[in-house]
Amino acid sequence: MERTLVLIKPDGVQKKVIGQVVDRFERAGLRLVGLKMIRLTEEILKIWYAHHADKPFFPNLVADMMATPVVALVLEGEGAIQKVFDICGVTDPAEAAEGTIRKDFGESKPKNVVHRSDSAEAANKEISLLFAPEELF
Ligand code: CMP
Repeated sequence: MERTLVLIKPDGVQKKVIGQVVDRFERAGLRLVGLKMIRLTEEILKIWYAHHADKPFFPNLVADMMATPVVALVLEGEGAIQKVFDICGVTDPAEAAEGTIRKDFGESKPKNVVHRSDSAEAANKEISLLFAPEELF
């Protein structure tokens, strides 16, 4: 049984697709074990995106992620990390497969609607940054 984290980013919140995004994960058999709306801070984002800190898009990425509150989901299931990866699609909506969240709702790499953990290590880091143990059910 794996757990993974999804953020519905500010562009997804602004597009009013929170319900549709959650629905896709639930329909795929994943179990929602944590859910909250939260405003990310620069402090959290510097840790979250430490591996992108030297990229030219980093300052815009941090600003975009703080534009509105985000919705954080912790999803559980067998092979949850890969399942969520497949449901979201690749980073660039233009290259994402038909029927994925990023293809259907995304408009660009920065505005790609969702973030998802890309490994078990990332999932553990991201879940513990945003959720206390007692917030997971
Ligand atoms: P995410 O899954 O949240 O992880 C890092 C984010 O950086 C990614 O989704 C994109 O939104 C963004 N990103 C990745 N590559 C680029 C790029 N070349 N230009 C702008 N934003 C990018």
